[in-house]
Amino acid sequence: MADRGSFSGRVGFILAAAGSAVGLGNIWRFPYLAGQNGGAIFLLIYLICIFLLCYPIMVGEIAIGRNTQSDAYGSYKKLGGRGWGFLGIFGILAGIFILSFYNVVAGWAFGYFLEISFGDLLSAGDFGAFFGNYINDISDNFWFSLAFMVLTALIVSQGVQKGIEAANKIMMPLLYLILIGLIIYSLTLPNAIQGVIFYLVPDFSELKVQTVFDGLRQAFFSLSLGMGALITYGSYLDKKQNIVSSAAVISLADTSVAFLAGLMVFPMVAALNAYEVSGPSLIFVVLAKVFSNMDPLVGRVVGGSFFLLICFAALTSTISLLEVPAAYFVDQKKWSRKGVVWGMALLIFVLGIPSMVSQGMIPALNKLPFYQGRDFLTFVADMCDISLTLGGCLMSIFIVRTWSLKSMDEELAIGNDHYMKSATRTFLSVVMRYISPWLLAILTFLIIVEKFFGLGVIFPGWE
Ligand code: PFF
Repeated sequence: MADRGSFSGRVGFILAAAGSAVGLGNIWRFPYLAGQNGGAIFLLIYLICIFLLCYPIMVGEIAIGRNTQSDAYGSYKKLGGRGWGFLGIFGILAGIFILSFYNVVAGWAFGYFLEISFGDLLSAGDFGAFFGNYINDISDNFWFSLAFMVLTALIVSQGVQKGIEAANKIMMPLLYLILIGLIIYSLTLPNAIQGVIFYLVPDFSELKVQTVFDGLRQAFFSLSLGMGALITYGSYLDKKQNIVSSAAVISLADTSVAFLAGLMVFPMVAALNAYEVSGPSLIFVVLAKVFSNMDPLVGRVVGGSFFLLICFAALTSTISLLEVPAAYFVDQKKWSRKGVVWGMALLIFVLGIPSMVSQGMIPALNKLPFYQGRDFLTFVADMCDISLTLGGCLMSIFIVRTWSLKSMDEELAIGNDHYMKSATRTFLSVVMRYISPWLLAILTFLIIVEKFFGLGVIFPGWE
Protein backbone atom coordinates (compact mmCIF):
# COMPACT_ATOMS: atom_id res chain seq x y z
CA MET A 1 0.00 0.00 0.00
CA ALA A 2 2.88 2.38 -0.73
CA ASP A 3 1.75 5.94 -0.28
CA ARG A 4 -1.74 6.01 -1.77
CA GLY A 5 -2.24 9.38 -0.08
CA SER A 6 -4.84 10.73 2.34
CA PHE A 7 -6.72 13.90 3.20
CA SER A 8 -5.20 16.05 5.93
CA GLY A 9 -8.38 15.87 8.02
CA ARG A 10 -12.09 16.54 8.20
CA VAL A 11 -12.08 19.92 6.47
CA GLY A 12 -9.97 18.70 3.57
CA PHE A 13 -12.22 15.69 3.04
CA ILE A 14 -15.47 17.66 3.28
CA LEU A 15 -14.27 20.34 0.90
CA ALA A 16 -13.07 17.76 -1.62
CA ALA A 17 -16.27 15.69 -1.46
CA ALA A 18 -18.43 18.81 -1.60
CA GLY A 19 -16.26 19.94 -4.52
CA SER A 20 -17.01 16.68 -6.29
CA ALA A 21 -20.71 17.12 -5.64
CA VAL A 22 -20.95 20.79 -6.57
CA GLY A 23 -20.50 21.02 -10.30
CA LEU A 24 -22.12 21.56 -13.66
CA GLY A 25 -24.98 19.52 -12.23
CA ASN A 26 -25.80 22.30 -9.78
CA ILE A 27 -25.25 25.40 -11.87
CA TRP A 28 -25.91 24.25 -15.42
CA ARG A 29 -28.31 21.32 -15.13
CA PHE A 30 -30.32 21.96 -11.97
CA PRO A 31 -31.73 25.33 -13.11
CA TYR A 32 -32.79 24.07 -16.52
CA LEU A 33 -34.35 20.89 -15.18
CA ALA A 34 -36.19 22.99 -12.61
CA GLY A 35 -37.31 25.32 -15.40
CA GLN A 36 -38.61 22.40 -17.49
CA ASN A 37 -40.35 20.76 -14.54
CA GLY A 38 -42.37 23.58 -13.06
CA GLY A 39 -39.78 25.25 -10.79
CA ALA A 40 -40.76 24.90 -7.14
CA ILE A 41 -42.40 21.49 -7.44
CA PHE A 42 -39.17 20.12 -8.89
CA LEU A 43 -37.21 21.64 -6.02
CA LEU A 44 -39.51 19.90 -3.55
CA ILE A 45 -39.16 16.47 -5.18
CA TYR A 46 -35.43 16.97 -5.44
CA LEU A 47 -35.14 17.72 -1.72
CA ILE A 48 -37.18 14.62 -0.83
CA CYS A 49 -34.89 12.46 -2.99
CA ILE A 50 -31.79 13.94 -1.35
CA PHE A 51 -33.04 13.28 2.16
CA LEU A 52 -34.72 9.94 1.70
CA LEU A 53 -32.53 8.20 -0.87
CA CYS A 54 -29.28 10.02 -1.45
CA TYR A 55 -28.06 10.80 2.03
CA PRO A 56 -28.14 7.13 3.15
CA ILE A 57 -26.35 6.04 -0.03
CA MET A 58 -23.69 8.67 0.55
CA VAL A 59 -23.09 7.47 4.10
CA GLY A 60 -22.86 3.88 2.84
CA GLU A 61 -20.33 4.74 0.13
CA ILE A 62 -18.05 6.66 2.45
CA ALA A 63 -18.25 3.89 5.06
CA ILE A 64 -17.27 1.24 2.50
CA GLY A 65 -14.32 3.31 1.29
CA ARG A 66 -13.01 4.15 4.72
CA ASN A 67 -13.38 0.59 5.91
CA THR A 68 -11.34 -0.91 3.10
CA GLN A 69 -9.00 2.02 2.34
CA SER A 70 -9.16 0.91 -1.26
CA ASP A 71 -10.46 2.03 -4.68
CA ALA A 72 -14.02 1.23 -5.83
CA TYR A 73 -13.18 -2.21 -7.28
CA GLY A 74 -10.84 -3.14 -4.44
CA SER A 75 -13.44 -2.14 -1.86
CA TYR A 76 -16.24 -4.31 -3.20
CA LYS A 77 -13.85 -7.19 -3.80
CA LYS A 78 -12.42 -7.01 -0.30
CA LEU A 79 -15.83 -7.01 1.38
CA GLY A 80 -17.84 -9.18 -1.00
CA GLY A 81 -15.54 -11.18 -3.27
CA ARG A 82 -14.67 -10.93 -6.94
CA GLY A 83 -18.29 -11.02 -8.13
CA TRP A 84 -19.14 -7.84 -6.28
CA GLY A 85 -15.88 -6.36 -7.54
CA PHE A 86 -17.67 -6.02 -10.87
CA LEU A 87 -19.96 -3.45 -9.30
CA GLY A 88 -16.83 -1.43 -8.65
CA ILE A 89 -15.72 -1.83 -12.28
CA PHE A 90 -19.20 -0.82 -13.45
CA GLY A 91 -18.90 2.36 -11.36
CA ILE A 92 -15.41 3.12 -12.65
CA LEU A 93 -16.67 2.79 -16.24
CA ALA A 94 -19.63 5.06 -15.46
CA GLY A 95 -17.18 7.63 -14.11
CA ILE A 96 -15.08 7.44 -17.27
CA PHE A 97 -18.12 8.03 -19.47
CA ILE A 98 -19.45 10.85 -17.28
CA LEU A 99 -16.11 12.61 -17.53
CA SER A 100 -16.05 12.13 -21.31
CA PHE A 101 -19.15 14.28 -21.89
CA TYR A 102 -18.80 16.43 -18.78
CA ASN A 103 -15.47 17.70 -20.01
CA VAL A 104 -17.08 18.78 -23.28
CA VAL A 105 -19.67 20.92 -21.47
CA ALA A 106 -16.93 22.25 -19.16
CA GLY A 107 -15.05 23.23 -22.33
CA TRP A 108 -18.08 25.25 -23.52
CA ALA A 109 -18.14 27.10 -20.18
CA PHE A 110 -14.39 27.67 -20.29
CA GLY A 111 -14.69 29.09 -23.81
CA TYR A 112 -17.57 31.35 -22.75
CA PHE A 113 -15.52 32.60 -19.80
CA LEU A 114 -12.67 33.59 -22.12
CA GLU A 115 -14.89 34.99 -24.87
CA ILE A 116 -16.96 37.10 -22.49
CA SER A 117 -14.03 38.36 -20.42
CA PHE A 118 -11.60 39.04 -23.23
CA GLY A 119 -13.46 38.60 -26.54
CA ASP A 120 -16.58 40.13 -28.10
CA LEU A 121 -19.18 37.48 -27.30
CA LEU A 122 -21.48 39.99 -25.62
CA SER A 123 -22.03 41.86 -28.88
CA ALA A 124 -23.21 38.67 -30.65
CA GLY A 125 -26.85 39.86 -30.90
CA ASP A 126 -28.63 36.57 -31.47
CA PHE A 127 -27.33 34.47 -28.60
CA GLY A 128 -29.28 31.37 -29.54
CA ALA A 129 -27.66 31.29 -32.96
CA PHE A 130 -24.30 32.15 -31.45
CA PHE A 131 -24.48 29.22 -29.04
CA GLY A 132 -25.58 26.87 -31.83
CA ASN A 133 -22.59 27.89 -33.94
CA TYR A 134 -20.28 27.85 -30.98
CA ILE A 135 -20.87 24.25 -29.98
CA ASN A 136 -20.45 23.24 -33.60
CA ASP A 137 -17.09 24.89 -33.99
CA ILE A 138 -14.76 21.93 -33.74
CA SER A 139 -11.56 23.88 -33.30
CA ASP A 140 -12.72 25.97 -30.31
CA ASN A 141 -14.38 23.00 -28.70
CA PHE A 142 -11.40 20.79 -29.20
CA TRP A 143 -8.90 23.18 -27.65
CA PHE A 144 -11.06 24.40 -24.78
CA SER A 145 -12.03 20.95 -23.64
CA LEU A 146 -8.46 19.72 -24.09
CA ALA A 147 -7.30 22.61 -21.91
CA PHE A 148 -9.88 21.66 -19.29
CA MET A 149 -8.74 18.05 -19.26
CA VAL A 150 -5.10 19.12 -18.94
CA LEU A 151 -5.99 21.31 -15.93
CA THR A 152 -7.83 18.38 -14.37
CA ALA A 153 -4.90 16.01 -14.93
CA LEU A 154 -2.39 18.55 -13.61
CA ILE A 155 -4.26 18.71 -10.30
CA VAL A 156 -4.95 14.98 -9.93
CA SER A 157 -1.37 14.06 -10.80
CA GLN A 158 -0.18 16.02 -7.74
CA GLY A 159 -1.88 13.51 -5.44
CA VAL A 160 -4.65 13.57 -2.87
CA GLN A 161 -3.40 16.22 -0.47
CA LYS A 162 -1.20 18.43 -2.62
CA GLY A 163 -3.44 18.23 -5.67
CA ILE A 164 -7.10 17.45 -4.99
CA GLU A 165 -7.36 18.86 -1.46
CA ALA A 166 -5.29 21.98 -2.13
CA ALA A 167 -7.24 22.85 -5.30
CA ASN A 168 -10.58 22.45 -3.53
CA LYS A 169 -9.45 24.57 -0.61
CA ILE A 170 -8.88 27.44 -3.02
CA MET A 171 -11.76 26.95 -5.46
CA MET A 172 -14.64 26.11 -3.13
CA PRO A 173 -14.55 29.32 -1.04
CA LEU A 174 -14.12 31.37 -4.24
CA LEU A 175 -17.10 29.58 -5.75
CA TYR A 176 -19.37 30.52 -2.84
CA LEU A 177 -18.13 34.09 -2.93
CA ILE A 178 -18.87 34.55 -6.65
CA LEU A 179 -22.23 32.84 -6.27
CA ILE A 180 -23.38 35.11 -3.43
CA GLY A 181 -22.19 38.20 -5.31
CA LEU A 182 -24.15 37.15 -8.41
CA ILE A 183 -27.33 36.41 -6.43
CA ILE A 184 -27.26 39.86 -4.87
CA TYR A 185 -26.88 41.36 -8.31
CA SER A 186 -29.57 39.15 -9.81
CA LEU A 187 -32.14 40.07 -7.17
CA THR A 188 -31.83 43.73 -8.11
CA LEU A 189 -32.96 43.11 -11.71
CA PRO A 190 -36.43 44.22 -12.87
CA ASN A 191 -39.08 41.49 -12.36
CA ALA A 192 -36.70 39.53 -10.10
CA ILE A 193 -39.52 38.75 -7.71
CA GLN A 194 -41.51 36.91 -10.40
CA GLY A 195 -38.54 34.66 -11.00
CA VAL A 196 -38.27 33.97 -7.27
CA ILE A 197 -41.98 33.10 -7.07
CA PHE A 198 -41.73 30.72 -10.03
CA TYR A 199 -38.79 29.08 -8.31
CA LEU A 200 -40.08 28.92 -4.76
CA VAL A 201 -43.87 28.60 -4.76
CA PRO A 202 -44.90 25.07 -5.81
CA ASP A 203 -47.76 24.58 -8.23
CA PHE A 204 -48.91 21.00 -7.60
CA SER A 205 -50.75 20.85 -10.92
CA GLU A 206 -47.29 20.80 -12.55
CA LEU A 207 -46.42 17.49 -10.86
CA LYS A 208 -45.79 14.80 -13.49
CA VAL A 209 -44.05 11.41 -13.45
CA GLN A 210 -41.28 13.02 -15.42
CA THR A 211 -40.66 15.43 -12.52
CA VAL A 212 -40.01 12.52 -10.17
CA PHE A 213 -37.63 10.82 -12.61
CA ASP A 214 -35.72 14.00 -13.30
CA GLY A 215 -35.56 14.88 -9.60
CA LEU A 216 -34.13 11.49 -8.71
CA ARG A 217 -31.60 11.38 -11.56
CA GLN A 218 -30.49 14.87 -10.77
CA ALA A 219 -30.11 14.17 -7.05
CA PHE A 220 -27.86 11.15 -7.70
CA PHE A 221 -25.78 12.96 -10.29
CA SER A 222 -25.48 16.06 -8.17
CA LEU A 223 -24.26 14.24 -5.09
CA SER A 224 -21.79 12.18 -7.18
CA LEU A 225 -23.37 8.93 -5.97
CA GLY A 226 -23.63 5.44 -7.34
CA MET A 227 -20.27 5.11 -9.09
CA GLY A 228 -17.67 4.93 -6.36
CA ALA A 229 -16.42 8.54 -6.28
CA LEU A 230 -17.25 8.74 -2.60
CA ILE A 231 -15.91 5.25 -1.94
CA THR A 232 -12.64 6.49 -3.40
CA TYR A 233 -12.61 9.77 -1.46
CA GLY A 234 -13.76 7.91 1.67
CA SER A 235 -10.75 5.61 1.31
CA TYR A 236 -8.50 8.62 1.94
CA LEU A 237 -10.31 9.54 5.15
CA ASP A 238 -8.80 8.74 8.54
CA LYS A 239 -10.52 6.68 11.21
CA LYS A 240 -11.07 9.57 13.60
CA GLN A 241 -13.73 11.30 11.52
CA ASN A 242 -17.49 11.20 11.94
CA ILE A 243 -18.93 9.98 8.62
CA VAL A 244 -22.59 10.60 9.46
CA SER A 245 -22.10 14.28 10.17
CA SER A 246 -19.56 14.77 7.36
CA ALA A 247 -22.05 13.33 4.86
CA ALA A 248 -24.73 15.68 6.19
CA VAL A 249 -22.45 18.68 5.66
CA ILE A 250 -21.56 17.52 2.13
CA SER A 251 -25.22 16.99 1.18
CA LEU A 252 -26.13 20.35 2.62
CA ALA A 253 -23.29 22.12 0.81
CA ASP A 254 -24.32 20.58 -2.49
CA THR A 255 -28.02 21.22 -2.05
CA SER A 256 -27.39 24.79 -0.98
CA VAL A 257 -25.39 25.49 -4.14
CA ALA A 258 -28.12 24.02 -6.37
CA PHE A 259 -30.72 26.03 -4.48
CA LEU A 260 -28.66 29.22 -4.70
CA ALA A 261 -27.93 28.64 -8.39
CA GLY A 262 -31.70 28.64 -9.01
CA LEU A 263 -32.01 31.80 -6.98
CA MET A 264 -29.35 33.39 -9.17
CA VAL A 265 -30.70 32.16 -12.52
CA PHE A 266 -34.50 32.60 -12.27
CA PRO A 267 -34.52 36.35 -11.58
CA MET A 268 -32.33 36.67 -14.70
CA VAL A 269 -34.74 34.48 -16.67
CA ALA A 270 -37.64 36.58 -15.38
CA ALA A 271 -35.90 39.83 -16.31
CA LEU A 272 -36.05 38.69 -19.95
CA ASN A 273 -39.30 36.79 -19.60
CA ALA A 274 -37.44 33.87 -21.11
CA TYR A 275 -39.08 30.95 -19.31
CA GLU A 276 -39.59 29.16 -22.61
CA VAL A 277 -35.85 28.80 -23.24
CA SER A 278 -35.29 25.45 -21.69
CA GLY A 279 -32.76 22.70 -21.89
CA PRO A 280 -29.00 22.70 -21.87
CA SER A 281 -28.74 26.07 -23.61
CA LEU A 282 -30.49 27.99 -20.79
CA ILE A 283 -27.45 29.54 -19.17
CA PHE A 284 -25.53 29.94 -22.42
CA VAL A 285 -28.33 31.77 -24.18
CA VAL A 286 -30.48 33.55 -21.62
CA LEU A 287 -27.74 34.59 -19.29
CA ALA A 288 -25.43 35.73 -22.07
CA LYS A 289 -28.28 38.00 -23.17
CA VAL A 290 -28.69 39.35 -19.64
CA PHE A 291 -24.98 40.16 -19.49
CA SER A 292 -25.12 41.85 -22.89
CA ASN A 293 -27.84 44.23 -21.64
CA MET A 294 -25.46 45.64 -19.05
CA ASP A 295 -22.96 48.40 -19.36
CA PRO A 296 -20.16 46.73 -21.44
CA LEU A 297 -17.57 46.70 -18.70
CA VAL A 298 -20.03 45.52 -16.03
CA GLY A 299 -21.25 42.82 -18.45
CA ARG A 300 -17.70 41.56 -18.92
CA VAL A 301 -17.06 41.44 -15.19
CA VAL A 302 -20.40 39.91 -14.14
CA GLY A 303 -20.63 37.53 -17.12
CA GLY A 304 -16.98 36.57 -16.82
CA SER A 305 -17.44 35.86 -13.09
CA PHE A 306 -20.48 33.73 -13.81
CA PHE A 307 -18.67 31.48 -16.25
CA LEU A 308 -15.59 31.42 -14.04
CA LEU A 309 -17.88 30.16 -11.28
CA ILE A 310 -19.02 27.37 -13.56
CA CYS A 311 -15.43 26.50 -14.42
CA PHE A 312 -14.46 26.22 -10.75
CA ALA A 313 -17.50 24.08 -10.03
CA ALA A 314 -16.75 21.83 -13.00
CA LEU A 315 -13.08 21.48 -12.18
CA THR A 316 -13.66 20.36 -8.59
CA SER A 317 -15.91 17.64 -10.07
CA THR A 318 -13.72 16.58 -13.00
CA ILE A 319 -10.84 15.96 -10.62
CA SER A 320 -12.99 13.55 -8.61
CA LEU A 321 -14.14 11.82 -11.79
CA LEU A 322 -10.56 11.30 -12.94
CA GLU A 323 -9.47 10.15 -9.48
CA VAL A 324 -11.84 7.15 -9.55
CA PRO A 325 -10.13 5.23 -12.40
CA ALA A 326 -6.73 6.58 -11.38
CA ALA A 327 -7.15 5.12 -7.86
CA TYR A 328 -8.08 1.78 -9.39
CA PHE A 329 -4.87 1.51 -11.40
CA VAL A 330 -2.70 2.86 -8.58
CA ASP A 331 -4.19 0.47 -5.99
CA GLN A 332 -4.77 -2.64 -8.07
CA LYS A 333 -2.02 -2.53 -10.66
CA LYS A 334 0.50 -0.48 -8.66
CA TRP A 335 1.05 1.83 -11.63
CA SER A 336 2.55 5.25 -11.00
CA ARG A 337 -0.01 7.98 -10.29
CA LYS A 338 1.40 10.44 -12.81
CA GLY A 339 1.49 7.96 -15.69
CA VAL A 340 -2.02 6.66 -14.98
CA VAL A 341 -3.50 10.13 -14.63
CA TRP A 342 -2.12 11.45 -17.92
CA GLY A 343 -2.92 8.22 -19.77
CA MET A 344 -6.52 8.15 -18.49
CA ALA A 345 -6.99 11.85 -19.19
CA LEU A 346 -5.96 11.35 -22.80
CA LEU A 347 -8.14 8.28 -23.23
CA ILE A 348 -11.20 9.98 -21.73
CA PHE A 349 -10.64 13.10 -23.81
CA VAL A 350 -10.69 10.96 -26.95
CA LEU A 351 -13.82 9.14 -25.73
CA GLY A 352 -15.47 12.55 -25.43
CA ILE A 353 -14.95 13.45 -29.09
CA PRO A 354 -18.15 11.77 -30.36
CA SER A 355 -20.11 13.79 -27.76
CA MET A 356 -18.28 16.93 -28.87
CA VAL A 357 -19.24 16.50 -32.51
CA SER A 358 -22.79 15.34 -31.79
CA GLN A 359 -24.33 18.80 -31.59
CA GLY A 360 -24.83 19.09 -35.34
CA MET A 361 -21.37 18.67 -36.85
CA ILE A 362 -22.00 14.99 -37.58
CA PRO A 363 -25.70 14.53 -38.39
CA ALA A 364 -25.68 10.79 -37.66
CA LEU A 365 -24.64 11.52 -34.09
CA ASN A 366 -27.05 14.41 -33.77
CA LYS A 367 -30.20 12.36 -34.22
CA LEU A 368 -29.80 8.82 -33.00
CA PRO A 369 -32.53 6.66 -34.57
CA PHE A 370 -32.58 4.17 -31.67
CA TYR A 371 -32.81 6.95 -29.12
CA GLN A 372 -35.89 8.83 -30.20
CA GLY A 373 -33.82 11.17 -32.38
CA ARG A 374 -31.80 12.63 -29.51
CA ASP A 375 -28.09 13.42 -29.78
CA PHE A 376 -25.14 11.31 -28.68
CA LEU A 377 -24.10 13.57 -25.79
CA THR A 378 -27.60 13.31 -24.32
CA PHE A 379 -27.51 9.55 -24.84
CA VAL A 380 -24.24 9.15 -22.92
CA ALA A 381 -25.43 11.50 -20.17
CA ASP A 382 -28.71 9.61 -19.78
CA MET A 383 -27.01 6.22 -19.71
CA CYS A 384 -24.66 7.48 -17.03
CA ASP A 385 -27.59 8.76 -14.97
CA ILE A 386 -29.21 5.35 -15.22
CA SER A 387 -26.03 3.61 -14.13
CA LEU A 388 -25.84 5.88 -11.08
CA THR A 389 -29.31 5.03 -9.77
CA LEU A 390 -28.71 1.38 -10.61
CA GLY A 391 -25.33 1.54 -8.86
CA GLY A 392 -27.01 3.03 -5.77
CA CYS A 393 -29.62 0.29 -5.80
CA LEU A 394 -27.01 -2.48 -6.04
CA MET A 395 -24.91 -0.86 -3.35
CA SER A 396 -27.81 -0.92 -0.87
CA ILE A 397 -28.35 -4.59 -1.69
CA PHE A 398 -24.64 -5.22 -1.20
CA ILE A 399 -24.68 -3.55 2.20
CA VAL A 400 -27.78 -5.34 3.44
CA ARG A 401 -27.06 -8.82 2.05
CA THR A 402 -23.32 -9.14 1.86
CA TRP A 403 -21.35 -6.68 3.94
CA SER A 404 -24.16 -6.48 6.55
CA LEU A 405 -25.75 -3.49 8.21
CA LYS A 406 -23.97 -4.52 11.40
CA SER A 407 -20.55 -4.04 9.77
CA MET A 408 -21.64 -0.73 8.34
CA ASP A 409 -22.85 0.39 11.75
CA GLU A 410 -19.53 -0.57 13.32
CA GLU A 411 -17.70 1.54 10.76
CA LEU A 412 -20.05 4.47 11.34
CA ALA A 413 -19.60 4.24 15.10
CA ILE A 414 -15.89 4.97 14.70
CA GLY A 415 -15.49 8.69 15.37
CA ASN A 416 -19.13 8.92 16.48
CA ASP A 417 -19.68 7.73 20.06
CA HIS A 418 -23.45 8.22 20.04
CA TYR A 419 -24.13 6.51 16.73
CA MET A 420 -25.28 3.11 18.01
CA LYS A 421 -28.12 4.65 20.00
CA SER A 422 -29.04 7.35 17.51
CA ALA A 423 -32.18 7.85 15.43
CA THR A 424 -29.90 8.20 12.40
CA ARG A 425 -28.93 4.56 12.77
CA THR A 426 -32.57 3.47 12.70
CA PHE A 427 -33.28 5.76 9.75
CA LEU A 428 -30.32 4.41 7.75
CA SER A 429 -31.17 0.78 8.38
CA VAL A 430 -34.85 1.24 7.48
CA VAL A 431 -33.96 3.03 4.25
CA MET A 432 -31.26 0.56 3.22
CA ARG A 433 -33.31 -2.50 4.06
CA TYR A 434 -36.80 -1.55 2.94
CA ILE A 435 -36.75 1.56 0.78
CA SER A 436 -33.71 2.22 -1.37
CA PRO A 437 -33.25 -1.19 -3.05
CA TRP A 438 -36.89 -1.39 -4.10
CA LEU A 439 -37.57 2.20 -4.95
CA LEU A 440 -34.33 2.60 -6.88
CA ALA A 441 -34.88 -0.64 -8.79
CA ILE A 442 -38.40 0.38 -9.81
CA LEU A 443 -37.48 3.94 -10.72
CA THR A 444 -34.38 2.87 -12.66
CA PHE A 445 -36.47 0.42 -14.67
CA LEU A 446 -39.11 3.05 -15.39
CA ILE A 447 -36.47 5.60 -16.41
CA ILE A 448 -34.98 3.10 -18.89
CA VAL A 449 -38.39 2.38 -20.41
CA GLU A 450 -39.22 6.05 -20.56
CA LYS A 451 -35.95 6.97 -22.25
CA PHE A 452 -36.09 4.32 -24.95
CA PHE A 453 -39.78 3.80 -25.58
CA GLY A 454 -41.85 6.36 -23.69
CA LEU A 455 -43.87 5.46 -20.61
CA GLY A 456 -47.02 4.83 -22.60
CA VAL A 457 -45.63 1.35 -23.27
CA ILE A 458 -46.36 0.27 -19.69
CA PHE A 459 -49.04 2.71 -18.70
CA PRO A 460 -51.23 3.34 -21.75
CA GLY A 461 -52.06 7.03 -21.98
CA TRP A 462 -49.04 8.21 -19.95
CA GLU A 463 -46.32 10.16 -21.60
N1 PFF B 1 -21.75 15.93 -8.96
C1 PFF B 1 -21.26 16.47 -10.19
C2 PFF B 1 -22.16 17.61 -10.61
O1 PFF B 1 -23.21 17.84 -10.00
O2 PFF B 1 -21.82 18.29 -11.57
C3 PFF B 1 -21.14 15.43 -11.27
C4 PFF B 1 -20.42 14.21 -10.82
C5 PFF B 1 -19.13 14.31 -10.32
C6 PFF B 1 -21.06 12.98 -10.88
C7 PFF B 1 -18.47 13.19 -9.86
C8 PFF B 1 -20.41 11.86 -10.43
C9 PFF B 1 -19.12 11.98 -9.92
F1 PFF B 1 -18.51 10.94 -9.48
